[in-house]
Amino acid sequence: MRLAAVAFDAYGTLFDVHSVVRLCDALWPGKGAAVSQAWRTKQLEYTWLRTLMGRYADFASVTEDALRYACASLGLALDAGRVSQLMEAYRRLALFPDVAATLERLRGLRLAILSNGSPSMLDPLVAHSGLDASIGDVLSVDAVKTYKPSPIVYQLAVDRLAMPASSIGFVSSNGWDACGAKAFGFTVFWINRTGAPVDALGVAPDHVIDSLARLPDLIGE
Ligand code: LAC
Repeated sequence: MRLAAVAFDAYGTLFDVHSVVRLCDALWPGKGAAVSQAWRTKQLEYTWLRTLMGRYADFASVTEDALRYACASLGLALDAGRVSQLMEAYRRLALFPDVAATLERLRGLRLAILSNGSPSMLDPLVAHSGLDASIGDVLSVDAVKTYKPSPIVYQLAVDRLAMPASSIGFVSSNGWDACGAKAFGFTVFWINRTGAPVDALGVAPDHVIDSLARLPDLIGE
């Protein structure tokens, strides 16, 4: 396999969305994991639903709306101060432990992020984590005002990296994103950290691995 570039999904793949659990738990003792789980689930649902409705709102809005819904569904009080605290935490999410060493080994390739995140979320996140040193292109769906897994989104990487889809590896821990990227034509690596089954969407990722650390060997770097 000869790839010239690798594009990474951001949330859940490089950054651990559930690193907000501790803050959630401090705000609502004993409920942190439930809030974080409901928040992430609703955030993704809203991206898909808004795409189907033809009513794009950027990921910062969707993320805040999902937080409000998650708290309402769990009967938890949420005021403006807590919203801004949690949205700020989302701009400082922790990197998964296998990210830094993997990116270091892949430094011979062109590296990019292709994410649902809006620039107002991604730019501070990437800068805070230090990934701006190794990732040259941070691509947001906001440029095309629609969400993954629309092929219009994956095309952004082809256009920016100026190479065919066949030269680009796409890495995501989100099974549905991995399938969407495979349907588009990328060589896809699904980071299956939880041992979930492959989504039944008529396409399957090329490689299923349990950690980013296995990526460089597979790519031949
Ligand atoms: C992203 C979402 C899918 O970063 O996690 O695009």
